Amino acid sequence: MTSIQESLPRGTAALDQAMAGITAIPGYDETAYHLPISFAVTGTVVEDASSADEAYQKSGKNPLIAWECLHASLHQPLEEPYTGFIADAVIRKLGYSLVDGSILGLALIVGTPQGKDLAAAIARELQEKYMLTFLAGDVVSSLSGAGVKVGLDYRLIPLGPSVSHGIHFADLIARVAMIFGGVAPGDAGRLLTYAKERAKAVVFAFPGMTDQEIACIDALRILGIPIISLGGYEGGEWIAPTPTEAVKQGMDLLGIRVTVTAIPIPMACSPAFEGKSIRKEEMYAEFGGGRSPAFELLRVRPEAEVEDGKVTVIGPEIETIPEGSAAPLGIVIEVAGKTMKKEYEPVLERRIHNFVNYGEGSWHVAQRDLIWVRLSKEAVKNGVRVEHIGKLLASKFRIDFPDLLDAVQVTLITDPEQVLTAKKEAEAIYDERDARIKGMKDDDADTFYSCTLCQTFAPDHVCVITPERPGLCGAISWLDGKIAYEISPAGANQPVQKGGLISAENGEFEGVNRFVRKASHGAIERCQLYNFMEYPMTACGCFEVIALVLPEVNGIMVVNREYKGETPSGMSFSTLAGTIGGGVQTPGFAGISKSYILSDRFLQAEGGIDRLVWMPSVLKEELASRLKERLKAQGKGDLFEKIADERNAETIEALTEFLAGVDHPALTMDSIL
Ligand code: SF4
Ligand code: NI
Ligand code: NI
Repeated sequence: MTSIQESLPRGTAALDQAMAGITAIPGYDETAYHLPISFAVTGTVVEDASSADEAYQKSGKNPLIAWECLHASLHQPLEEPYTGFIADAVIRKLGYSLVDGSILGLALIVGTPQGKDLAAAIARELQEKYMLTFLAGDVVSSLSGAGVKVGLDYRLIPLGPSVSHGIHFADLIARVAMIFGGVAPGDAGRLLTYAKERAKAVVFAFPGMTDQEIACIDALRILGIPIISLGGYEGGEWIAPTPTEAVKQGMDLLGIRVTVTAIPIPMACSPAFEGKSIRKEEMYAEFGGGRSPAFELLRVRPEAEVEDGKVTVIGPEIETIPEGSAAPLGIVIEVAGKTMKKEYEPVLERRIHNFVNYGEGSWHVAQRDLIWVRLSKEAVKNGVRVEHIGKLLASKFRIDFPDLLDAVQVTLITDPEQVLTAKKEAEAIYDERDARIKGMKDDDADTFYSCTLCQTFAPDHVCVITPERPGLCGAISWLDGKIAYEISPAGANQPVQKGGLISAENGEFEGVNRFVRKASHGAIERCQLYNFMEYPMTACGCFEVIALVLPEVNGIMVVNREYKGETPSGMSFSTLAGTIGGGVQTPGFAGISKSYILSDRFLQAEGGIDRLVWMPSVLKEELASRLKERLKAQGKGDLFEKIADERNAETIEALTEFLAGVDHPALTMDSIL
């Protein structure tokens, strides 16, 4: 038995001595938060031995800070599969999963499991129960040895080969608090409250840790994180459960309740697998993706025509589909329900993508007649057939929409001719739908929709979603908001009456202001939807893109989360993102979705799209065809080439020169300030 010597040893001689031995702090890449825990607790930017000591002293010799500084001082690049320090961009990307319920909490597993079965069972259970799990120490190799796949895409993140790397679990929580929670660096009190109340984190400790490692892990209790002992640790405040009940007890402590309904197919199903991919070498067969005709369609049908749970395969099953081939596929889902409406079809249809990806051996991208689906060799070896995709879909729709759907039946067409016929019919339906939504303008709507999902992490943040301005995470459109409200009237999407017009140009409405004031608990007084110079919408942290003013060139630039380089503002996305967010308004900056760039309302008050002077080339390419089309429609076909990117301007000087060279319209517009 190892006893936990001293609980939360503040400033022990050993720690003091170790801190005194620090010679340099190399620092981490791709973060705007320096050494995040030290920064969050003390506000000190730790970059060398003396600032490390300053943070340590200022924090009252907090052992977490010592651990962070010591770990950073010894920081070395890690080999695969280890991630080490997690970049800010990854945390932002996780933001939406943290609020939409597909990640319910965070777990850290450390130590050396004695048999591999218990560790594998715990990791699996955490995946099934929607937890995002981090691993530090021998547990990583133990899981790999048991055939459990690890990696961010599997929600089992191998931080590093020693327990010490567990610090990156804590520095992630500190950044979640600063990025989404608006916790100011140096406000230790708010950080602790935030971590306790919102982070929902738990640690599982296997045996084999040294006294020093135990002291480190024990220090996580400062953040209100409960520690579950899986054998060998005695004393202190650690909790010893029955090992088979460990996950359940851990989640009970966090107040997370989840019921997992097993779907009777020969592969595991969980949002934990949503991000994984199936590479060509791993794939048994594929469908669509430009290699064979494929489509998906969800339709509402009269009750009498839908037999709940029925799955039909028309055409060859997996046994007659050759390995490595591309086969045709039509996924047709018919649903019935008293409250189900035709206009909900597209919103539900988009869930097919998520659900197919939940399968450990099934993969799905895109939508409608652009889909691309793969089944892995491993899954097929375990008995997965085409039919099981149908079973998975039928079950998931019933489980996730219990009030809306009374019956779901799925038909999978693999017969080449029948796919083509059915695909044609589906395309007519897509066109019909598009015609219905297209042309919906903000002026046509009396009601916008709010989204406060992100209040889980950014307590005062409110997105106001209009037909021409989607939520800043890019995941929620006005139609999504409307339907989500109809499906669950007490949920995070509420109708917002526009009310009296204050300014058409700025997009300011009495009703919207009233709503935002209330929903932000009084933190935000005014919110202008089309102007970001004075009262922009708040940003929670999971924005796809940041738009900001570049006064030197009288224009506006946008930068997306995926872009890692520098921008003419002198800051990278990650640095910029660190200065906005947390549910506050930052004049001159806006967090937006990618598709908003294509909206007629984008930069309306700033003089329109002519203000746009710079965007990263990846974003430009992603939006190219749609953006060119828009610009052409406005008679500004030549503007596309005048928008600079990092290939022709990385600094403000180069940008100034470039814009002058192409005679960019922003240069002669009214002053933006
Ligand atoms: Fe968060 Fe806004 Fe997206 Fe809702 S719409 S999930 S509040 S970013
Ligand atoms: Ni590290
Ligand atoms: Ni958010």
